[in-house]
Amino acid sequence: MMSFNEKHNSIQAAKELDNKDKLYNFRNQFHFPLTESGDKSLYFTGHSLGLMPKNAESFIQEELNAWKAFGVEGHFKGKHPWLPYHEFLTENMAKIVGGKPEEVVVMNSLTVNLHLMLVSFYRPTEKRNKILIEHTTFPSDKYAVDSQARFHGHDPEKAVVMLKPSEGKMTLTDDELVEQIKSHGDSLALVMLGNCNYLSGQCFNFKKVVQAAKEVGANVGFNLAHGAGNLLLDLHNVEADFAVWCTYKYLNSGPGGLAGAFVHEKHLNNPEIPRFEGWWGTKKETRFKMKPQFEPMGTVESWQLSNPPIFQLASIRASLELYNEAGMENLREKGDNLTGYLEWLLETNCGNSLEIVTPKFEEGKQTRGSMLCVRVKGDAKNVEAKLKEAGAVVDFREPDILRMAPIPIYNSFEDVFELVEVIKSAF
Ligand SMILES: Cc1ncc(COP(=O)(O)O)c(C=O)c1O
Repeated sequence: MMSFNEKHNSIQAAKELDNKDKLYNFRNQFHFPLTESGDKSLYFTGHSLGLMPKNAESFIQEELNAWKAFGVEGHFKGKHPWLPYHEFLTENMAKIVGGKPEEVVVMNSLTVNLHLMLVSFYRPTEKRNKILIEHTTFPSDKYAVDSQARFHGHDPEKAVVMLKPSEGKMTLTDDELVEQIKSHGDSLALVMLGNCNYLSGQCFNFKKVVQAAKEVGANVGFNLAHGAGNLLLDLHNVEADFAVWCTYKYLNSGPGGLAGAFVHEKHLNNPEIPRFEGWWGTKKETRFKMKPQFEPMGTVESWQLSNPPIFQLASIRASLELYNEAGMENLREKGDNLTGYLEWLLETNCGNSLEIVTPKFEEGKQTRGSMLCVRVKGDAKNVEAKLKEAGAVVDFREPDILRMAPIPIYNSFEDVFELVEVIKSAF
């Protein structure tokens, strides 16, 4: 990551950094919401909903045209027939999460996919029935694991256990993480972590989590809602059992966009793994023979239930093309620089008014992505409201947290500088 000093504390310096940025022009491929005065807003909530890529319109229009021209025949005709449409996304999505193409599919929405994976990979017994999650798990994930525990006849108060950061902290060290996983021993059925954590922005060490879980005989899955399109991911090699993610945050697919799922290849043809099934998971060669027996496709596509919404797939395809062109390694490098710049400017200019919760950057380790979680000393809600008035969009979480994400594909160093100027004036 770049290092920053007093010379960088000016708009000219920010502009110079933009001039040297080889990804700068990608921002012109996105629609920025405008402020009342018609300027581009300072958009820092790509961790909640990513901006609209300009090519989404033509990709969706192509499928509207196909529907208009072909009706049901659009499943087989046109440039991108609908029958195999999800396959047009697989290669680029597999690159995003570091999976083999047969391990990655886009389908359903995130919480649905989490449940489907829990059906397959949370197989509690009387002795081994605990699920370990973060102490600040996104509520939907908590509801999903609680209800799965209950479904299997276990009391979630006992079966769902949480990581425990030390007193007053929101994040854990790698050692604490590993020690806590191991402390549950053979009572642990599954480790299921949001990576990055949605609130603190901490990225847990994938390899260490998997190794510790495997040592005690537990399965491991990740919710990559805040990881896919943000972190450098290597799901196949770290040997995660499963992962799920949404595409409307860092992958800009639009509100309620479809989700992704990964199942490690070692599980793909294991008949012992139960699965909820639907017709889109049967072999495509014989699907339309309408047989009563399910014939799994032999890839993660076996977990598909329904024929997918093509317009939604089209918008993800549009965004993935941009990500593929920019390259995840370049994006992560710029993301580290932008996030480091934001952190440095905040500490230098507003250090007395806030505390940064997200772990520091560490060379060679992925301790965070492109989101900073900041605890405000004072009225955070009021600060957020003042920022909104000034055309800066960040988000507020009770009681005192602001989260802001400089997204490397569309935010600039100048955006970051201007955001901190606005924050400075809000205290
Ligand atoms: C970590 C995490 N889990 C689950 C969800 C719920 O996603 P969905 O409504 O797509 O199921 C979100 C949404 O923001 C999230 O950030």
